[in-house]
This record gives sequence, structure tokens and C-alpha cells, in this order.
Amino acid sequence: MKPKVYLAKVVPNEVEEYVAQHCSYQMWPVDESISREKLLTEVADVEGVLLVGHKIDQELLDHGPSLKIVSNISVGYDNFDLKAMKERKVLGTNAPTNELNETVADMVFGLILATARRIVELDHFVKEGKWIRGMSYPALFGLDVHHTTLGIIGMGQIGEAIARRAKFGFEMKVLYHNRNRKAEAEERLGAQYCSMEDLLRESDYVVVMTNLTPETRKIMGIEQFKLMKKSAIFFNASRGETVDEEALISALQDKRIKGAGLDVFQKEPIDLQNPLLQMPNVVTLPHLGSNTARTRGAMGMVAAQNLVAGVTGQVPPNLVPELK
Ligand code: 8YV
Repeated sequence: MKPKVYLAKVVPNEVEEYVAQHCSYQMWPVDESISREKLLTEVADVEGVLLVGHKIDQELLDHGPSLKIVSNISVGYDNFDLKAMKERKVLGTNAPTNELNETVADMVFGLILATARRIVELDHFVKEGKWIRGMSYPALFGLDVHHTTLGIIGMGQIGEAIARRAKFGFEMKVLYHNRNRKAEAEERLGAQYCSMEDLLRESDYVVVMTNLTPETRKIMGIEQFKLMKKSAIFFNASRGETVDEEALISALQDKRIKGAGLDVFQKEPIDLQNPLLQMPNVVTLPHLGSNTARTRGAMGMVAAQNLVAGVTGQVPPNLVPELK
């Protein structure tokens, strides 16, 4: 008999077909996220579940006594309560893919250009009929991106893809801060390792790209924003909780930094009352760094392979290190 799994997210046909070859399955049928309540009932008698972003905690594990594996269709796995999963011997996997690295890096550069050159603000300006011949254009000046300095906090695969664009596309100086130095990346990308403090002091653009872990929670707070140049722009495409959002809002309100480009927030979806949404120098996106059909398809297939491995007694290729 095939092992039973639940796909808590719509996946492309080829991914569904792959799962069908190896497992008996049910799939959440619509794009809107499955509710927690429904997920808790769906895991009751399955050995594996495929999902994005849902908290895997003691409560969920208690509802899924047969669970052997939780397969994330995301590279981040901060939704895992690693201790609880380890105790219950439930495997947890993520879905790192080269496609994701490149797709997220493209989006980060989109945010860099959009904020530096005020693209969203000026799009509104044109569409609202404010473009008048002979007006004072210095008021609409933006900032250059080429030949400036980019600081990357968290030099994983996505960080490297951002650094490559910066160096070879925009001839930027690239600084990075990471748990470990990456000699090979330094050589290949000309990236310079430095302390958080030096990176913040020297960069024109600061990008946070770390995993969310206890060490990186609120890695950017009041003190860190104070170190940034007044002309610098801040970006977060990691997880909202890597940044003290109150501190970011104060830094922007007090004009201690120039702007921000944000794909992730402390609370998602963001509250419409959040002051960040009133700031023309802040460009916001709804946490969709990896959202292209090709990349989400590739991630779905990687996640499905992990799932199938986990329910058929093999070691899944992307078992997260903490659960090895
Ligand atoms: C998002 C991500 O999950 O992989 C991750 O960890 O944050 C992204 O892939 C995705 O953009 C949400 O749709």
C-alpha cells in the first residue's frame, strides 16, 4: 500500500503526478492558504505533509500521530519547532534550489532600483498627472546604484546571487557579514568580509538575507540603524523578525536612513495601519521573493522528492541540519 500524504498547497501538475506515483494523497484545492484548523484535521492520518509557512509545533505534531516528515516548499524553515520535531522523530526538510537563489536575487535588485530611483513613487506621479513640462526636476532626483557599495548581511546562496549581480552588473563594491567567512566567494565575487558595524557604516545599500534563527532575530535594531549612513537604503528579504520593525520605522521617521525596500514584515499580511505603508520612500511587497512559475515549480518538485523520500524510509536530500 502506498504511504498517505497531504499536500497543503496546490502544486503544479508534474509535481502532483510525481507524488501520485509514490503515495496516496489529498491536496488542498485552492490558492488561498489552508486554515490552521483544517490543517490540523488533515494531518490526522498521514505520514507526510507538504506545506509553506505553517507552524509545525507540538500541537500539530499531536494531531498527526503518524507523521514522519514535514516538507517545506521554502528555503526558510523557521516555521519548524525543531526541538518538538526532534523529540517526536519527525523529519523536516526545506527546498533550496538554484532557481530560488536567482529569482530572489532578481527581486532584491528590483527593490534596490525601485527605491533608489523612486520608481514606484514616480509611477504614481506620472499617473496622477503631476508631470508638468519645465518643472524642477532636482526634486525628483534619485540615487545611483552603479559604483556604490552594497552590504549583504547573510552570505548564503541567495546572498551570493545578489553579490554577483552587484559586482558584474552594477560594478558595486560588495561587503558582507556572515557567520563564517567564505573565501571562495570572496575570490570569485570580490566580496569583502567585514564586521556588522563596518558594513553598516560603509554601505549605501544594506540587504538582510540571513535565515531566521535565535541568533539573527532582530539582528537589525536601533543601534544598527544608527550606524547606517543617512543616505543609505535598507532592504529585508529574509524574515520580518530579523528586524526590529519599530526601530526601522523610527529610523525612517527620523530620517536617519533614506528609505527601505521590504518583502517581509513582522506581521504578514501587514496591518494597513502600519506607518511603513504611508511612506513614499518605502517600497513594499507581499513576501513573494521566489514567486515565479518556474521557480515555484522547481521548489515544489524538490519538496515533493523530500516528502517521498521521508515516507519511504530514505533520508530526504534536504533534511535540515538541526534534524540530522
Ligand atoms: C517564500 C521564502 O516562501 O523560500 C522561502 O523561505 O521565503 C520564499 O520562497 C515565497 O516567496 C512565498 O510565496
